Amino acid sequence: MIGLRDLYYIRLGTRDLDGAERFTTDIVGMQPIERTEDRLYLRSGKQHHSLCYFNGDPGDHAIGLEMKDWNGLDEAMAALDAAGHACIRGTEEECRDRSVEDFCKFQDPTGNNIELLVRPHDANRRYFPSRDCGVISLGHIGVNSTDTKQDEDFWTSLFNVRVSDWIGPAPLLRMKSVHHQMALFPTTKPGVQHINHQVESFDDIMRSFYFLQERQIKIVFGPGRHATSEGYFLYFEGHDGMVFEYSNSDRKIIDDEENYRPRQFPMEPESFCVWGSKPDIPEFNA
Ligand SMILES: [Fe+2]
Repeated sequence: MIGLRDLYYIRLGTRDLDGAERFTTDIVGMQPIERTEDRLYLRSGKQHHSLCYFNGDPGDHAIGLEMKDWNGLDEAMAALDAAGHACIRGTEEECRDRSVEDFCKFQDPTGNNIELLVRPHDANRRYFPSRDCGVISLGHIGVNSTDTKQDEDFWTSLFNVRVSDWIGPAPLLRMKSVHHQMALFPTTKPGVQHINHQVESFDDIMRSFYFLQERQIKIVFGPGRHATSEGYFLYFEGHDGMVFEYSNSDRKIIDDEENYRPRQFPMEPESFCVWGSKPDIPEFNA
C-alpha cells in the first residue's frame, strides 16, 4: 500500500504563458513565484508552488502527490511496476523544476500523468494573494477518467485512497480526512478536469461571483452548495479552458473512518447542487 499525504501541485502545458499569468494572478488570485522563459510557478498555500505552467501542449497535464513515507519511493516504484504501471525516476533537473528532493512518474489506467513526490519544498514565505480572493489553500482536483471503475480500483487497491461518496459513476476520493482531494469524472481523454481552491468563507465566494461577473469571466456552475462535501462553491472557466473552483467545505471523515459508509448519489444536477444551480460542465452531466 503506497501512502499518500496530499495533493501537492498541478502542472499544465500552455502555448501562452503571458495569458496564463494574467488569468491566474488577476482573476484567480494566485501569487506568481517565478517566471522563466518556459515556466510560470504560482503559489496558493503552504507549498513552494501549487501550479506550474510549462511551455507545451495545453492538453499535457500532470498531478503531483506527496508521499507519506519519504523513504518509500523505491518500494512504491516496485509496486507500481509489478502492477503494470511503468515508473520512471525523475532526473536532478526534473527535481529542480518541481522543487522536490526526489520523485517518480507513471500513468494511471486512463493515462493521467501522476508524480509521486518525496520532500516537496514548502513555501519559505507565506502565500500573498494577488487579489483579495480569500483563498487559503489548494483544495482538490477533478481528474478525467475513461473508466471510473477501473481508475477507482487502481487508486483504492494500490494507495491509501478511499471513496467518500459517488455521484453516478464518479467517485470522490480522499487520501486524508478532508472529504475529497481527487474526483474522477467520466470522459474520453486524460487530463485535469478542474482545480479547486478553498476560500475562507461563503462571503469570499459571493465576492468572487460579482468580481467575475463584472469582468465577464464565464461562470460555469454556481454559486451553489454541494450535496457531498456540503461546501459552498463557484466554478468558472479560465486560461486554455481550464475550470477553476472556489469552495469552502470543512467536512471531514475522522472519527468513524472504519465504519464510514460512502453514499451513492444519482448523476443528476441536484447531486452537485442542493440549491438547484445547473452545471454548464459536460463531465457533470454524464
Ligand atoms: Fe470540486
